[in-house]
Amino acid sequence: STFVTNHSAALLFHFVVRLRFAHLRVTAKKSHSANRQSLNSLVCNTQILNMCCWKGVFGCPLIIDVSSLPLSVEEPMSLGAEDDREERPALVPSLFPLIPPTLYFSTASEKVELLPAEQRRLLKWKMSTVTPNVVKHTIARSHFKVTKKSHDWLGCWGHHMKSPGFKAIGEHQKLNHFPGTFQIGRKDRLWRNLSKMQARFGKQEFSFFPRTFVLPQDIKLLRKAWEDSGSRQKWIIKPPASARGIGIQVIHKWSQMPRKRPLLVQKYLHKPYLISGNKFDLRIYVYVTSYDPLRIYIFSDGLVRFASCKYSSSMKTLGNKFMHLTNYSVNKKNSEYQTNSDDKACQGHKWALKALWQYLGARGVNTTLIWEKIKDIVIKTIIASEPYVNSLLKMNLKTPYSCHELFGFDIMLDEKLKPWILEVNISPSLHSNTALDVSIKGQMIRDLLNLAGFRIPQKEDVIAPCSSASSSTSSLCGGNRERTKPDLSADEKVKRAFYLTQRYADQDFLSTVLDVLTPEDVRLLAESEDELTRLGQFERIFPSPSSSRYLRFFECSRYLNILLDQWEQKHWNNRTKGISLLTSLCQKGVHLGTSDPAHMVRNCGKRTSVYPKKFKFV
Ligand SMILES: *[C@@H]1O[C@H](CO)[C@@H](O)[C@H](O)[C@H]1NC(C)=O
Ligand SMILES: *[C@@H]1O[C@H](CO)[C@@H](O)[C@H](O)[C@H]1NC(C)=O
Ligand SMILES: *[C@@H]1O[C@H](CO)[C@@H](O)[C@H](O)[C@H]1NC(C)=O
Ligand SMILES: *[C@@H]1O[C@H](CO)[C@@H](O)[C@H](O)[C@H]1NC(C)=O
Ligand SMILES: [Mg+2]
Repeated sequence: STFVTNHSAALLFHFVVRLRFAHLRVTAKKSHSANRQSLNSLVCNTQILNMCCWKGVFGCPLIIDVSSLPLSVEEPMSLGAEDDREERPALVPSLFPLIPPTLYFSTASEKVELLPAEQRRLLKWKMSTVTPNVVKHTIARSHFKVTKKSHDWLGCWGHHMKSPGFKAIGEHQKLNHFPGTFQIGRKDRLWRNLSKMQARFGKQEFSFFPRTFVLPQDIKLLRKAWEDSGSRQKWIIKPPASARGIGIQVIHKWSQMPRKRPLLVQKYLHKPYLISGNKFDLRIYVYVTSYDPLRIYIFSDGLVRFASCKYSSSMKTLGNKFMHLTNYSVNKKNSEYQTNSDDKACQGHKWALKALWQYLGARGVNTTLIWEKIKDIVIKTIIASEPYVNSLLKMNLKTPYSCHELFGFDIMLDEKLKPWILEVNISPSLHSNTALDVSIKGQMIRDLLNLAGFRIPQKEDVIAPCSSASSSTSSLCGGNRERTKPDLSADEKVKRAFYLTQRYADQDFLSTVLDVLTPEDVRLLAESEDELTRLGQFERIFPSPSSSRYLRFFECSRYLNILLDQWEQKHWNNRTKGISLLTSLCQKGVHLGTSDPAHMVRNCGKRTSVYPKKFKFV
């Protein structure tokens, strides 16, 4: 970097911006060579940094003027007069002008207004064999119809798939996975990636997972650790890609080690926190709406799953799965297993997370502190997957709109109430065996779908693409149209490079990122503010007022994370000013790039830089 102090750097950026405006007026002016040189050095950096940034993945926001839609549709009540559920509008308007509304999803106690037939016809959901009932019920209340056809759907809740499969997803379609999340969803990858973080950032920050070995690769290391820790040490062994507790065992003799490889071997957390003598773990629901910028949400409730047999540290009991495992699939086979249908009660072998907080709170435990530590684990673990997911996203997806993902984090509390991560599930069970499950998972899925922000596409987006479909990689067809999305404008690249190349950027310097907002800045900030209005019982944990400290854990620092972090620091306390600033910018169409040359010229779908042709860098 050529910049000496932050302050002069900020000044230069403003100079760059002003220079561009000067160009607008006096294009023929000569002798810009010195300035051009400094610009060019920024642009060189841009090219390097592009590998880390979204390459022009711009939704061409479709505009639905909400006021033009009929406010209420006159339809005879098909369910009869006794249906006195409150009716809710089908669309949630954006906070901002010229941004389309999103679809509303209700709880069972509400019903959703019908959209006009023309739009209702577009509400198609692709069914998969793994689509859980809570999802089916929630989308049905918003009048989605299930489709078997592979191309005309808006949403799908299905299996994870290989990365190239994502290429076939259309711009108006949303699937409940990101490519590459198996980097944390498979047990062996999770430990590898977390260990890598531990090696880089130290045990102080990354000490929430037990020492782990992946066999066969780590067999020598394991042998040594095994000898060093003595015969009292217990180990838990897990097949790397199993689920529901299958193949999990606790052992303490080398001879008990299965021959079958690959295998994950971990130091067993042998002193769990016990309630009434039983071991338990927590299922925490984590939802990511976007990986660049990274936005992570955590659901305020969850499940507490108990082992169905009282815990003993005796070596003789190691074979008892009802004692050492908490998986429901294992413990339901125990005749002692008791169900619980009450989300307030501390009874049976499954509780609501909120019931656990009450139980512990009543015993003088600071549960806020435990919750803070869990959030810390979640943020760091998601960040560990971030470089991988983002590079696959950029290779395989037309737009970031198409991906979102729910993760099930399994967390255990040790005797000192320190949380440890056990695993991350990329397809957490949404089966609802009991009223407790229905109440928690139902609310969670409903809030999640609102947060997801489903939009109604323009008709031609849905109908055109598949007429000539010949996708061989996947049955998820829908995106064969030519890509119309251009790269970022040169101006935006300059700004991004500028903020990413500062080595010793302090808060004063970084805060200048908000001084001149580009169209894409405005679009993303508006999108993020809108998301915050649809939280339900989710809480956003990244970015948050205190999340700046996590930026250093990113392998590759990203402009949009800096932007959102600065925005959050400035506005978290009172969002009114920020929202009214964005409102006025959106009113002018800045986020569409269609007006206001001060924020660069860009047409929807086709953007041009304000630089004269000979001044183009890319
Ligand atoms: C089953 O329970 C054990 C012990 O509580 C845990 O380590 C493991 O990750 C669980 N497995 C699954 C697939 O949930
Ligand atoms: C509990 O922990 C939180 C988070 O560290 C802290 O802010 C709060 O003051 C603590 N509460 C009590 C009662 O100690
Ligand atoms: C995680 O670990 C796997 C296997 O070692 C590696 O291929 C991958 O690049 C890692 N992912 C990240 C995000 O570092
Ligand atoms: C937030 O700021 C606005 C204007 O800046 C002010 O009118 C409002 O009272 C503030 N709200 C709170 C809760 O402080
Ligand atoms: Mg599990």
